[in-house]
Amino acid sequence: MFSYLDHLECTQCGKTFPHTQLSKISACCGKVLFARYDLPRMRREVDRNSWQDRVTTMWRFSELMPVENPDNVITLGEGATPLLRAPKLEKKLGLSSLYIKEEGLNPTGSFKARGISAAVSKAFELGATGFTMPSAGNAAGAAAAYGARGQLPVKVFMPKDAPSANKKESFMAGSEVNLVDGLISDAGRIAVAVADEQNLFDLSTLKEPYRAEGKKTMGLEIAMQLDWKMPDAIIYPTGGGTGIIGMYKGFQELLELGWIEGKPPKFIAVQASGCQPIVKAFQEGKDSAEPWPNAATIADGLRVPGPFADYLILQAIRETGGTALAVEDAEMVDAMYEMAATEGVIACPEGAATLVGLKRLLEQGFLQPDETIVLLNTGSGYKYLDLIKESAQG
Ligand SMILES: Cc1ncc(COP(=O)(O)O)c(C=O)c1O
Ligand SMILES: [Zn+2]
Repeated sequence: MFSYLDHLECTQCGKTFPHTQLSKISACCGKVLFARYDLPRMRREVDRNSWQDRVTTMWRFSELMPVENPDNVITLGEGATPLLRAPKLEKKLGLSSLYIKEEGLNPTGSFKARGISAAVSKAFELGATGFTMPSAGNAAGAAAAYGARGQLPVKVFMPKDAPSANKKESFMAGSEVNLVDGLISDAGRIAVAVADEQNLFDLSTLKEPYRAEGKKTMGLEIAMQLDWKMPDAIIYPTGGGTGIIGMYKGFQELLELGWIEGKPPKFIAVQASGCQPIVKAFQEGKDSAEPWPNAATIADGLRVPGPFADYLILQAIRETGGTALAVEDAEMVDAMYEMAATEGVIACPEGAATLVGLKRLLEQGFLQPDETIVLLNTGSGYKYLDLIKESAQG
């Protein structure tokens, strides 16, 4: 058995839709569609240990993945990244159990590979013949690589000041690179228009159901790597929110399968002080976020002024007893050095932001020293080396 995918469901009103055709947002409410699986049947038929001895990619979780025919999987070996214990940071911060999920080891150097592999594979299975991809940077690079891998044309749209590495990797992998004078929201509008005009499938964050399915495998892996336990807290650099939403969904599925027990981790969203719509909405007790004006930060992945799935991010944070906080750009860069020098992890600024968040939440007493805490390093620092000095002299 490959996939137990059963139907799609509107995250606003619960209306269900078939999964047998290419889908975007819900026809009823215009909101995010979630993939739903036949979990009762899977519970009867599948043993969690069968995931252990499989291919070491995220496709080991095939029963909880959307692709039905394995021949349609477009893979570069994404997932199965290490959950590194962080003993030096534990000692420095007085913690008993701190981990870093090292997503920089994915193809194209970021966790975006998971979502894009899932979405491109499923869309290919359902007949898509080409893609548009608006992106802050990393998702464009991933879409370009997976497009090349599947020999499907990709047109990427990113802000003209996106990291050079993202532009180059996209171009190198044969995508049409479109640089937009504006932010990801502007890139998104253009990408959708081009997709409609040219019969391409648009892969915008959470505007199709399956990128979140790829991202959810980070949660499935964390549970497996902690020997079928969930951590107490996951600190996550939040832009569009696919990771937080996907991981929360993954833990809920494992709970429903009876494969893990307890309560999901507190989800903690870290944003940049120059673009913090989720933090503001969380602090004001709102269910949706207002677009952040003049969004600016060196952490391009966090420069998402108006996340489409704001309500799902806020739900994940609130339902798990988590929180949201913003950090300064300079603090992120300092934390890039600190993560590298203490644990050898060459993190992206977004990933380093989680360490800043951790310290602040320990100081505030929101997190306790005896909790099991996971920092999500969402990407490799190698794409951001221009932020880093060559030596103490500069
Ligand atoms: C390195 C990095 N971290 C974090 C994010 C934000 O991810 P999400 O959309 O899952 O919130 C991005 C998105 O572009 C990113 O590239
Ligand atoms: Zn609906």
